[in-house]
Amino acid sequence: MTKTILRALAGETQDVPPIWMMRQAGRYLPEYRATREKAGDFLSLCYNPELASEVTLQPIRRYGFDGAILFADILLLPQALGADLWFVTGEGPRLSTVTTEADFEKLKPVHAIDETLSPIYETVKILSRELPAETTLIGFAGAPWTVATYMIAGKGTPDQGPAHALKDENRALFEQLLGKITEGTIEYLSRQIEAGAEVVKIFDSWAGSLQGDDFQRYAVEPARIIIEALKRRHPDVPVIAFPRGAAERFKGFHAATGATCVALDDGVTPDWAAEHVQVSGCVQGNLKSSHMVTGGEELVAETRAIVEAFSGGPHIFNLGHGITPDADPDNVSRMIEAIRG
Ligand code: CP3
Repeated sequence: MTKTILRALAGETQDVPPIWMMRQAGRYLPEYRATREKAGDFLSLCYNPELASEVTLQPIRRYGFDGAILFADILLLPQALGADLWFVTGEGPRLSTVTTEADFEKLKPVHAIDETLSPIYETVKILSRELPAETTLIGFAGAPWTVATYMIAGKGTPDQGPAHALKDENRALFEQLLGKITEGTIEYLSRQIEAGAEVVKIFDSWAGSLQGDDFQRYAVEPARIIIEALKRRHPDVPVIAFPRGAAERFKGFHAATGATCVALDDGVTPDWAAEHVQVSGCVQGNLKSSHMVTGGEELVAETRAIVEAFSGGPHIFNLGHGITPDADPDNVSRMIEAIRG
């Protein structure tokens, strides 16, 4: 097997870890900004297979990353389920909200998602033809809780307040919504795999705000259900789970969900994670993305410290969260050089 990401996911310890970055195709790259301009808005770019595959390939050409992540967004699934979706420049996503039974009943059936999402599968097909032989193609979706926080609030929220409120006030409706997103996610990821995705990642960006039993019920359990269903259909496709903000609850996440790899944010130290998480399987992470803005000696030292801490087991190098638009593209090269030498 020549693909280093697949080797790490198969449990292999490598001298030099494979590398990719969350949001590696994004606004910090001038070539991304140019293609986005050509597409018009962000959603037009997502639904244009030629241009979406082009921006997916840009960071691979520039940096030679070991993995390419499909260019799309976690909010395309709610849109395919019938939510209105638009992006306000400088502010982020806006959606029509689901807070009542009547809103929920208006959503489309899960099997209807392909009508909207077929251009995304086309992007995956183009990429599986065009990527270099050594590059792993990663598909993705949002985790049900994180997607629900946007569907309930109609936008991003600092504390996921509206979603917590619905959970407390109408748990039956909240769980129905999570169930529907879970089913939709299984279908969406299955289609990506059938189109050529070799690995899939589940982004639970707001898992950290689930307290007590809620973490088990709404972060662990939906991930377990999705992974079990995918493994039944596609037993050889590895799954990366990213319960961002899980803190000490990263421990045991492999076993509880069946994830092949647990992606770590920068809220845990590499030494702690090597001892408590990597013992259970492959880990991904976890350089602070602010180093891509500040650079310097600290970037190099932190990068090397992460590689060293995880050198005893399977590891995929990544940031702890997405690279930000103010990052310096040269710092990405410095990070890669610090890893590959
Ligand atoms: O990582 C990649 O390069 C692949 C593509 C990707 C995007 N979004 C493209 C994007 C992926 C994997 C995502 C995941 C995503 N989207 C998450 C989970 C990961 C995380 O960051 O926590 C979430 C919560 C979203 C929802 C979303 N999309 C928000 C909140 C925003 C606005 C904030 C922002 O960064 O502007 C987006 C927009 C978005 N998604 C952009 C990109 C490149 C920027 C859009 C632009 O070009 O203007």
